[in-house]
Amino acid sequence: MCGIIGYIGGQPALEVALAGLRRLEYRGYDSAGVAVVVDGGLHTLRRAGKLANLEKALAESATSPRGTVGIGHTRWATHGGPTDTNAHPHTDCTGAIAVIHNGIIENFASLRAGLERDGHELASETDTEIVAHLLEDELAAVSAPDGTAGAGAAEGAETAGASRLTEAFRRVCRRLEGAFTLVVVHRDHPDVVVGARRNSPLVVGVGADETFLASDVAAFIAHTRSAVEIGQDQIVEARRDGVTITDFAGNPVEGRPYHVDWDASAAEKGGHPYFMLKEISEQPTALADTLRGRLSNDAEIVLDEERLSAQDFRDVDKVFIVACGTAYHAGLIAKYAIEHWTRLPCEVEMASEFRYRDPVLDRSTLVVAISQSGETLDTLMAVKHAREQKARVLAICNTNGSTIPRESDAVLYTRCGPEVGVASTKTFLGQVAACLLVGLYLAQVRGVLYGDEVARYVEKLQAMPALVRQTLATIEPMRALARTLADARAVLFLGRHVGYPVALEGALKLKELAYMHAEGFPAGELKHGPIALVEEGLPVVVVVPSPRGRSHLHSKIVSNIQEVRARGARTIVIAEEGDTVVEPYAEHLIRVPATPTLFAPLVTTLPLQVFACELALARGLDVDQPRNLAKSVTVE
Ligand code: M6R
Repeated sequence: MCGIIGYIGGQPALEVALAGLRRLEYRGYDSAGVAVVVDGGLHTLRRAGKLANLEKALAESATSPRGTVGIGHTRWATHGGPTDTNAHPHTDCTGAIAVIHNGIIENFASLRAGLERDGHELASETDTEIVAHLLEDELAAVSAPDGTAGAGAAEGAETAGASRLTEAFRRVCRRLEGAFTLVVVHRDHPDVVVGARRNSPLVVGVGADETFLASDVAAFIAHTRSAVEIGQDQIVEARRDGVTITDFAGNPVEGRPYHVDWDASAAEKGGHPYFMLKEISEQPTALADTLRGRLSNDAEIVLDEERLSAQDFRDVDKVFIVACGTAYHAGLIAKYAIEHWTRLPCEVEMASEFRYRDPVLDRSTLVVAISQSGETLDTLMAVKHAREQKARVLAICNTNGSTIPRESDAVLYTRCGPEVGVASTKTFLGQVAACLLVGLYLAQVRGVLYGDEVARYVEKLQAMPALVRQTLATIEPMRALARTLADARAVLFLGRHVGYPVALEGALKLKELAYMHAEGFPAGELKHGPIALVEEGLPVVVVVPSPRGRSHLHSKIVSNIQEVRARGARTIVIAEEGDTVVEPYAEHLIRVPATPTLFAPLVTTLPLQVFACELALARGLDVDQPRNLAKSVTVE
């Protein structure tokens, strides 16, 4: 949830950290802070609120720290409100150590009590601050004459000091429970920045005579595209000339180097006032890139990292999809396709509930974990649980090098590029497309569909980016309509079949962006209770299935539209071109191109994204950084 950057090199660390935090602010924006090591001292500044508050405070401060070693943090509050005092970095009693943290230290209360008993004074309400104080104690212990300084003891004074810091930090990490990425600087050890991770992301950026530690490559992409993955329960000691990685026991570990294949401009707004608008407009490309090259010459779907054989997929007798939020909605759509194409039972489950209800899993279960970030802790824990139960796990992910793909047996990457706006848009389309590919792949390896049938579906899928482009080009009426509804109190969304998850997604977008009460329902369920919500003037958005695909569903939803109209609702109808039957019942009719039934969400979702975005803007809200949210949710 929080954004973290650490830097050691030849540039002013403050500027590098602030530029990195600007790119990481989507991860959390309750408060921000920096610490820079300068001439044997530690210069720390923290401010509640967005990064701009910190930048203002820095601009007004008499001294601007010029050191080349530092850390920066942008926070999404968990323990303690978003105040200056709770903002990171946190320091120890001596003011020598500064720590930044992403995650939750679950045993912090007992550790804090112990520290306070020993005379430490903690200033904040955070779980993070204990790390600085624990490190203070452990450092004193390893530096004591009888302490174990580790390998560095026999080396030069500075190296030995850095090794002692790393060893002390290792000892601290071993005492922590929960999820954490931690990055630490010490005023007396200006030659290193030390980081650690457990169940929370940390990547290294390797530049020329400079090294970065960050929660996400976006933080350093302007400086280097060479990255190294830090694995679970590992410590990284970063120096100007490289890194040393060890596990929490001190054993050396090889990091996995990789090249970041997008550049800084991909994360810029590209002329749009908001990332969300840019990302909505990028959907045709995101979809095309996700589909590109996925069909081999033998008409086989190609996965990216496959540690499963075709036989493993043939052995599958049940599919579970686990995901959260928007990714969960993509999973709901996948269920229709997977069951239809493969005849395998497919259950879709919110990842946060999955492991707590003891699902029935075994070697023949395929668990598909969908996550844009690849770091969502609820989903990661569901993946771990599934693997413990011997199920096979296939990840669908947008972030190369992230944790969920690493913890899975196989991966299919959505190639949507960086998504900075907190609301998922282009990655939803990528996830739906990837799910459809997985369904086709399963159908093919299991012999339910022939290669030429799969190829025909893929061909139709490959025509979808053009239809997405066409939909976006004609979406202005939806924008104009949304602007007139800024004062609405609530909005309902109805759908049937694959239109139902689209309705849920439309409601989620409106809730998170416009802070409005919004609910999505299967249109047939309305009469079982929710219809009581319908009152004069209530906007009701209806996602209408194609009359060509499932004509009985089409006529049923037309009846549902009439039911809400009869009770005074303002009907906003999303229907395919040429569907004239709905015309008399639609107060506002938004057209989308005709598509195969299972591919319809790739176009019907778009007006709902635009609706939520425009309505939120009309209410004067920040659509890139809605309140209380963060892009990457690394706490349970
Ligand atoms: O990174 P993930 O796809 O795992 O994130 C899951 C949800 O937090 C995410 O889809 C969230 O619901 C959307 N950003 C909302 O627009």
